[in-house]
Amino acid sequence: MIALAVFGTGRIGQVHARNIAALPGVRLKYVVDPVASAARDELAAGLGAQVAAPDTVFADPDVDGVVIASPTDTHAGLLLDAVTAKMAVFCEKPVSLDFPTVAGVTTQVEASGVPVMLGFQRRYDPNFRTVRDRIAAGTSGRLEQLVMHTRDPGPPPVSYVRVSGGMLRDQAVHDFDQARYMTGEEIASLYAIGNCQIDPDIGAAGDIDSLMVTMLTASGRMVQMSNNRRGPLGYDQRLEAHCAREVLFIDNRPQNDLRIAGPEGALSAPPMDYFIARFEAAYRNEMIAFVEMIRNGTPPLAGIRDGLEAQRLAEAALVSIATGAPVALSPDWQP
Ligand SMILES: NC(=O)c1ccc[n+]([C@@H]2O[C@H](COP(=O)([O-])OP(=O)(O)OC[C@H]3O[C@@H](n4cnc5c(N)ncnc54)[C@H](O)[C@@H]3O)[C@@H](O)[C@H]2O)c1
Repeated sequence: MIALAVFGTGRIGQVHARNIAALPGVRLKYVVDPVASAARDELAAGLGAQVAAPDTVFADPDVDGVVIASPTDTHAGLLLDAVTAKMAVFCEKPVSLDFPTVAGVTTQVEASGVPVMLGFQRRYDPNFRTVRDRIAAGTSGRLEQLVMHTRDPGPPPVSYVRVSGGMLRDQAVHDFDQARYMTGEEIASLYAIGNCQIDPDIGAAGDIDSLMVTMLTASGRMVQMSNNRRGPLGYDQRLEAHCAREVLFIDNRPQNDLRIAGPEGALSAPPMDYFIARFEAAYRNEMIAFVEMIRNGTPPLAGIRDGLEAQRLAEAALVSIATGAPVALSPDWQP
């Protein structure tokens, strides 16, 4: 029996805790959240877990792994505590908002040999995975141009904007990760534009709500992303991979499959309006993969270095927006 602990019982921690509890041969032993709430206590009671302090978890030799789904500013410290305790880790992105801290933690994790998986759930979405597998296997022919759209249904509260690290490190980091994952290459240069067109309060908090990025890989593949904090369509999440032999499309997933057609046209349901619904299968697959990593040593699709590289691209895009110039990247580029 594999025993796990979940840190953080907010939006994403609850998803991970429930997915863990549903896995055969796996026990959610602890949940950790310093903020007492009915949600925390009901989650623990409903899943047969104990509410515990971090020290109890890290001192318990029965615990095989921890899931870090607490606020971003706690990730680096908890990750290193878990690595010291030789416990496998699933850590939500980003590891830290401070790039040198991400780089330092990555070095320490890699030196420790403790397996660490990062929460880039799109890699575990069945559609994204199929596209990646067809490209990687050569079925699609050479990937030449990749286009991605990520648009939230509506802007987040400004209180969230202030602590999240902003649109690039928080939201667009998933697209930066996909740029590397789909092309199978590092990005050689990028150019970004970003501004505030939707909510002036987001601008006043120092962030942007509208972003476009153009990237080039070393072998000449082109990547384009458009990101927005408002989507009249709902959670608008699409990808097009233009390859030599075929074009692969990932479209929005409708809230239901009903389509009503008549002489004046057709009506179908709008896209799912929340990332938790859209990526339900991906989050489930992530926990299955986390347990496989612990049980069989199966390498995860997203490791600690993938977090560092995606964040390097987010930092480079911020530099590009600030300077109005493209940024040439190298393996040791730093903001
Ligand atoms: N990969 C994804 O799709 C995805 C989606 C959402 C959030 N996230 C990431 O997950 C993290 C959590 O986001 P959220 O939206 O669930 O936040 P949230 O605010 O809904 O929940 C965070 C929870 O952590 C608790 N907490 C605070 N300090 C803690 C500590 N030291 N130890 C344990 N728990 C602590 C809070 O009380 C709260 O219950 C963030 O880093 C975010 O970037 C990733």
